[in-house]
Amino acid sequence: MSTRPIPASPAAAIRPKVTVPAFQDKRRLGQPLVVATAYDFPTARIADEAGVDAILVGDSLAMVVLGHPDTLSVTMDEMLHHARAVSRGARTPVLIGDMPFLSYQVDDTEAVRNAGRFLKEGGMDAVKLEGGAAFAGTVRTLVRAGIPVQGHIGLRPQSHHLLGGYKVQGRSAGTARTLIDDALALEDAGCFSLVIEGVPDRVAALITERLQVPTIGIGAGPGTSGQVLVTHDLAGFGEAPPRFVKRYADLAAQLRQALSAYAADVRARTFPGPEHSYTIRDDEWAALLAMVGAAIPPVELAQ
Ligand code: KIV
Repeated sequence: MSTRPIPASPAAAIRPKVTVPAFQDKRRLGQPLVVATAYDFPTARIADEAGVDAILVGDSLAMVVLGHPDTLSVTMDEMLHHARAVSRGARTPVLIGDMPFLSYQVDDTEAVRNAGRFLKEGGMDAVKLEGGAAFAGTVRTLVRAGIPVQGHIGLRPQSHHLLGGYKVQGRSAGTARTLIDDALALEDAGCFSLVIEGVPDRVAALITERLQVPTIGIGAGPGTSGQVLVTHDLAGFGEAPPRFVKRYADLAAQLRQALSAYAADVRARTFPGPEHSYTIRDDEWAALLAMVGAAIPPVELAQ
């Protein structure tokens, strides 16, 4: 492990902090918003350097990092652990903590306590929660407590049992109409932005057109104010991603190749070489050998 402390991204010194109002201004200025997920310090640092507008510490953590089959089992404490790492790595983007399953659904007191922990303990600037008009009251309570909230409508992975799977939402006129009503209710309750997931492109564009706040699409076409992707999906980790993901890299293949090459070097004793090793001066070495009464052949130490 490197023993040198790694500073947060130097990008912070160049780019001004994207505050929640600055995030909203970008929509007004017609600038597409870029959001990506991160769950750890180095990825957050790289995302900051890449110039994203917001980092979402998504509950997708459960699946892409912790290996769970869905997002339901990730806990508040696990989310906070990763949020803290992200906040140490990224200074510039808006940092959004994703409220995990049952951290806000039970009652508003629990919701305020847990959302507040994201800001107080996790270093986040805002939280995100899944749900439509039924959660407008909770959003209002959080905003009243001073906590910026991003809504999340359409395909809501925490409700996959209820929805019968990870299905596109709002494909009929009636269900699309409900999504518009959900979006308006959440905006009215004070959401600073809305994620729209797994919704037909024209429906997402229509919702965007009806709102003042920025919409961030995932599997919702190009007509939203911005886009969000799970970084592990776009970078090529994990299984074949859903249709809406564009793969920008195949980091899993590169990492597999790097680890295989490392394993081969160790087994062939070609790593570490002299350039990776530390030395002891000859006089100290001779003194040591005299001290311990040994004549250890230095190159055979490890064999
Ligand atoms: O958890 C997550 O990463 C998300 C995004 C996919 C929007 O909610």
